Amino acid sequence: MSPQPQAAVGAPLSRVDGRLKVTGRALYAAEHDVDGAVHAVIVDSSIGRGRVTSIDTRDAEAHPGVLRVIHHRNAPKLPYRDNSGSNNPPGRRLRVFQDDQVRFHGQPVAVVVATTLEAAQHGASLVKVRYDSEQPATDLTEGEPGEPANYARGDVEAGLRSAAVRLDLNYRTARNHHNPMEPHATIARWKGDKLTVWDKTQWVVGTQTELAAVFGLETDAVRVISPFVGGGFGTALRCWPHVIVAALAARETERPVKLVLSRKQMYLGTGYRPSYEYRLRLGSDRRGRLIAADHAMDAETSSYEQFTEAILAAGQMLYSMPDVRQAYRLVPLDLPTPLWMRGPGFQTASFVIESAMDELAHKLGVDPIELRRRNEPNEDEARNVPFSTRRLRECYTVGAREFGWHRRDPRPRSTRDGDWLIGMGMAAGVYDTARFQAEARARLDADGTAVVEAAASDMGPGTYTSQAQVAADALGLTMRTVTFRLGDSLYPPTPPHGGSMTMASVGSATLDACDRIRRQAIQLAVEDRDSPLYGVQADEVVVRSGRLHVQGNPARGETYQRLLSRNDRTHLEADGSFAPPSGPERHSFYGYNATFAEVAVDATLGLVRVRRVLGVYDAGRIISPKLADSQALGGMVGGIGTALLEHTVTDHRDGRIVNANLADYLVPVNADIPDLKGIFLDGEDYEADPIGVKGLGELVMIGVAPAIANAVFNATGRRVRELPITAEALL
Ligand code: MOS
Repeated sequence: MSPQPQAAVGAPLSRVDGRLKVTGRALYAAEHDVDGAVHAVIVDSSIGRGRVTSIDTRDAEAHPGVLRVIHHRNAPKLPYRDNSGSNNPPGRRLRVFQDDQVRFHGQPVAVVVATTLEAAQHGASLVKVRYDSEQPATDLTEGEPGEPANYARGDVEAGLRSAAVRLDLNYRTARNHHNPMEPHATIARWKGDKLTVWDKTQWVVGTQTELAAVFGLETDAVRVISPFVGGGFGTALRCWPHVIVAALAARETERPVKLVLSRKQMYLGTGYRPSYEYRLRLGSDRRGRLIAADHAMDAETSSYEQFTEAILAAGQMLYSMPDVRQAYRLVPLDLPTPLWMRGPGFQTASFVIESAMDELAHKLGVDPIELRRRNEPNEDEARNVPFSTRRLRECYTVGAREFGWHRRDPRPRSTRDGDWLIGMGMAAGVYDTARFQAEARARLDADGTAVVEAAASDMGPGTYTSQAQVAADALGLTMRTVTFRLGDSLYPPTPPHGGSMTMASVGSATLDACDRIRRQAIQLAVEDRDSPLYGVQADEVVVRSGRLHVQGNPARGETYQRLLSRNDRTHLEADGSFAPPSGPERHSFYGYNATFAEVAVDATLGLVRVRRVLGVYDAGRIISPKLADSQALGGMVGGIGTALLEHTVTDHRDGRIVNANLADYLVPVNADIPDLKGIFLDGEDYEADPIGVKGLGELVMIGVAPAIANAVFNATGRRVRELPITAEALL
């Protein structure tokens, strides 16, 4: 079979929706113009645990413009059916206005609906809520852990006893909030029993099924529309209670309702990266060959749901060793439920494991890269299957060369630049190559243009562009003549736009749909006596720029337009799908990186400035190099934030978040961001999926925080095992 020429895939194209975004014509959830929409503002609880004893809504209701105040005393009982097709963790989800219980500080206790936003906001300030307050438990170290999830191979205690070198280290990571630019927002409109919702979501299908489950509707009675998402990092992977509030308010007032969370409310109930207490015991022989690792980790969750993330995988498969034990305990607290945040689980595990590897290297006097090379496994030792592709060694080689690793003096506190102590550090990174069942629908019109549709989402990575690149090449069209549509539950279903699985899953479905159309057209041509391609073997025909021709003989062929119009076909269409193989996988699928950082630490003040970061990635085939580079830059920025700045601070006296705003919750700004560089190794992984990608949105963040922590050690001789690394810790 002649391979279809690849022109768009691999080309460094700009975003097809770039112009829409920079001119403000890309519509985000709150910007859709829905006729007659009124405004809703949520009243948040001012206690961290207890119950509501009274709600006085008289002043609010008397305020001009206020239409209704809804709370647990007057809200209808909602079905809240179970929803297995969602990202709801095990437990009992928060049911808005269904009881008087307060489960965390900032929980919705009422909603005010008014004709203007100002009236709704002022009305919300006039609602008087009284509580029976109890002492909330919000400190991870003071909670009562649940039963652990365990993993074990070999005999860890024996392994540690036999080890020539042992480390016993305690780490702590801060709670982080996603903080996308666009806040959560929902517009809900009912027509009879049919609900349409414009929402900020990374998964229109999940929001659709959740709304149907909560309101007791058929799934197809709910339509969710979300063409643009202004950043997510995971916060929009789940249908949160405020979406239910908007739909409920719309039903009760019989008006379309718009609800936009305030920046403060973005910290109250839309997920966060949970904080961890993590103890790691590590044992190796004198050459640094690992023998045993014992991981004990406690992570926060809410009192009503058990949120877990992929904290275990890296400890099982990143390095070769006979003895591994892991215990992962959830600590239920009076907090809202966490949710995956960029690089979930792996990010935290990687900080711990890669910091510990650096300590081991230092203790043994072995170069950190050499130590990692000595522990490179031949297969996935957790599952005893080969890796589909694993080019971590190459990441080390390329990274060391490009970064100038040989210039690093391994003695801590040995390099100075005036008042600044200079250090270099590195870390390995790994992230799971997730793939999931997905569908897409494609249509080629007689005018030679094509449209591909899939429910999908684009929170920023550039789904519109990268999917169009795959479609254009499979159809043999130029980018100009292909449109990809997404963000509507009427389109074929796709998995959550998270876990870096969109390209592999949706991309493979897009490829399938477009391949089918190209083959249909070729078949039509070779069977058509009036076609110049009549009688040619179908597998000798390729399509380029909308023209079918014999491979190697461009003169013999014709355009899609001619072929379709001559055959009286208005269009060709096809449904495409992708599903990972069922049953146990014969390979282990991961993306890898080696990340390098150089820091300068003010010798007197402890201030850390990152000077350079380099990431070298084994992420499979790169569909869209320019977008991949943007992802790498964003991932490194996120990693710098996690390493040095981001920390959601709770006042444990009442469970209040004290820095619920972007002035006090620190994220990197331009002045914090130095010279960043990402290098993607050329390659592909066709074991993983038909387009050969391994996912990269999460991978690019992992490794940044430990590389910075290790660089800080190299600069200062101070080992900080707590994130974020603050000036106080270095004084
Ligand atoms: Mo990402 S945490 O999968 O949105």
